[in-house]
Amino acid sequence: MSKQHPGDEAVTDQIAHFLQQIGISLDEFLKFEHADAFQRSKSWKAQLDQPLPLQGEGIEAVVSELRQTVIPNGSAVPNPGFSSFITTGATTASTLAFTAANIASPQRYMGTAFNFLEEKSLEWLADMFTIPQMKGVYSSGGSVANLIALGAARQSAFEKIAIDPAADGVDRPVSIYASEECHHTIQRSAGVLGIGRRAVKSVACDSMGRMQVEKLQAAVENDLKQNILPLAIVANAGSTNTGAIDPLTEIGQLAHRYGIWFHVDGAYGLPGILDARIAPLFQGLEFADSVIVDPHKWLGASIGIAATFVKDRDLLLRAFTQEPADYLEGSVDQNSETTPSLEHSMDDFGIPYFDYGVELSAPSRGVVVWAMLKEIGVEGMRNRVVRHNDMARYLSDFCHQHNHLEVLCEPTLSICCFRYRDESINDLDQLNQRIHRRLIRENKFMPSTTRVNGQLAIRPCFVGARSEQKHAEGMLQSILRIGEQLVQESNT
Ligand SMILES: Cc1ncc(COP(=O)(O)O)c(C=O)c1O
Repeated sequence: MSKQHPGDEAVTDQIAHFLQQIGISLDEFLKFEHADAFQRSKSWKAQLDQPLPLQGEGIEAVVSELRQTVIPNGSAVPNPGFSSFITTGATTASTLAFTAANIASPQRYMGTAFNFLEEKSLEWLADMFTIPQMKGVYSSGGSVANLIALGAARQSAFEKIAIDPAADGVDRPVSIYASEECHHTIQRSAGVLGIGRRAVKSVACDSMGRMQVEKLQAAVENDLKQNILPLAIVANAGSTNTGAIDPLTEIGQLAHRYGIWFHVDGAYGLPGILDARIAPLFQGLEFADSVIVDPHKWLGASIGIAATFVKDRDLLLRAFTQEPADYLEGSVDQNSETTPSLEHSMDDFGIPYFDYGVELSAPSRGVVVWAMLKEIGVEGMRNRVVRHNDMARYLSDFCHQHNHLEVLCEPTLSICCFRYRDESINDLDQLNQRIHRRLIRENKFMPSTTRVNGQLAIRPCFVGARSEQKHAEGMLQSILRIGEQLVQESNT
């Protein structure tokens, strides 16, 4: 039922009723028995392509259209057979917590349980990832998390030469060193921070996609000779293309020797530390000045949740403060005589996350991470990570034993890069591109592709909480079937 305010908006408080209806449609959607949205786009576009409504139709109409037209034509991303890029759907616990926060704590500040869980969940993540000495802040994704980390690096490097770059800007050329496999948000962060994208020096990798430390050292030495200020070294703990983990100890030690900020991009790969077989590759994390991880990747959080961890959170405050504003600080100053003690959640903002990054308004994200960890614990996360890493290894082992399959990069984490081959076909890039397109259109198994050492690879990346061994097996069988068909077609 709707409460009608005179002449304007309708507000309904029948949330449980409508959530139940939406929930039924979402359960149906998650069966993935429907065709792909694009294949039916004519009909839903005709339904949705309406002019701006001058008169509201009411929430029942909204819910009905969501259920009939919008939800059934959603994305392939949460499909358990989807393994493109590094993205997946939210788990149910995550969705529930996100929805709860949306209603009960739309902002992450003030003395509420949600604000408390913001910090508590960051501490849990830091514990789980063996960086308990670090403090964090949430943001919308790995892109912003890297930006925040590099903002701290900029602040640190310039404060050492008595300049406040957040207040006064940067007045000299600087360098950020990152491997040629780094995510391009590093370059974009440099652009946004006023350093310039070209300040990112690309360091060559070995054939496994790991940064070559001697090349890094040469680049730093070269810059120092030219009086260019080294601002940060960025290492991958799970590169986007292949899941490569840079030699963190060697890079961290080098960064310390030269007094350069050491940032680790673990947006995708940091949860890999939970797999005992891979954990040793994360040695060296202790050297990091900043580390990021995306709970909305491998941990299964709703999209829009990343975390940046730093050793010194005050640096973030200096790098990102928006300066005091009367309408904000004036409203909560618990130190004034009028408010001598904290008695109400609105007496204090709590930890000022809005001054540790680039967002003022931001959702309560901690409750989502808290809910996921509370639901399955570290052991549950470990099982998921191990299962996905096993799936990548299964693909690689299978390829090694099959005449028509070839591994292009051995898995480190849950990515396996491989291709189909046939001696009658010269252009294997084109063949694999065609296999890939046909596979996607079958709408069951959806890896992406990449290039490894110049060759086109089919690249599944398993991070979905709903993805299991049978999806890796099914994908392989489909690729073999399509590969055989295409070879036959091109030989007839
Ligand atoms: C290593 C790495 N860093 C950063 C990002 C950017 O993350 P987001 O898409 O959450 O902004 C990605 C995205 O896949 C990534 O793989």
